Amino acid sequence: MTHTSLPKYYHEIQKKSRDLKFGQISEDEVGVLLRLLVSSKPRAKVLELGTGTGMGLSWIAEGLHSEGSLVSVEKNEKLLNVARMFFEDDPRIELVHQDASSWIEENRDAQFDVIFADTWAGKFTDLDAILKMVKTNGFYLIDDLNYQAHWPGYHQEKVLFLVDKLKYHPDFYTFPIDVGTGLMLLCKK
Ligand SMILES: C[S@@+](CC[C@H](N)C(=O)[O-])C[C@H]1O[C@@H](n2cnc3c(N)ncnc32)[C@H](O)[C@@H]1O
Repeated sequence: MTHTSLPKYYHEIQKKSRDLKFGQISEDEVGVLLRLLVSSKPRAKVLELGTGTGMGLSWIAEGLHSEGSLVSVEKNEKLLNVARMFFEDDPRIELVHQDASSWIEENRDAQFDVIFADTWAGKFTDLDAILKMVKTNGFYLIDDLNYQAHWPGYHQEKVLFLVDKLKYHPDFYTFPIDVGTGLMLLCKK
């Protein structure tokens, strides 16, 4: 994407991800949207599930108000260590090494302005719990919804079920966005 500025550490995270052969970093379209959503909320409270090496985090960090906060949860410590390298000293950011599902279970009453659910937990599992954690007027974003040839058969069914459930969810306005891997953005009524 050439029509926008890139966040701090973008190239460093790309390189570290390549070195680790980690190919699941967020696409630029997702990052640009995350930065915009986060910056639309003064002092935003943000949650990311599945930190990876910190690419989505780098976009979120750029849009985040100086008094905002971000919790990002990752179960793979090797990947999380890359994000730690760049963001550990940022007082707005808490990097958590934990299974996202158990983190959700322990933090059921927490409320967030923006949630980026970028792993199974908070998307294919724990969905009702995570949707309750979105504040009124807050956003919930997911990606990887467009069919990919390498998916096993049952995965497509899971995605279709999820998309249907979200499209008609009574508590949210929903916007499917057909860019990149296929996104869906929800705003709580
Ligand atoms: C799509 S990648 C995340 C990419 C990252 N958000 C970005 O913007 O570049 C999904 C991540 O979820 C992590 N993950 C998978 N299962 C998890 C779980 N149960 N709890 C926490 N993290 C998990 C994987 O290790 C992987 O790093």
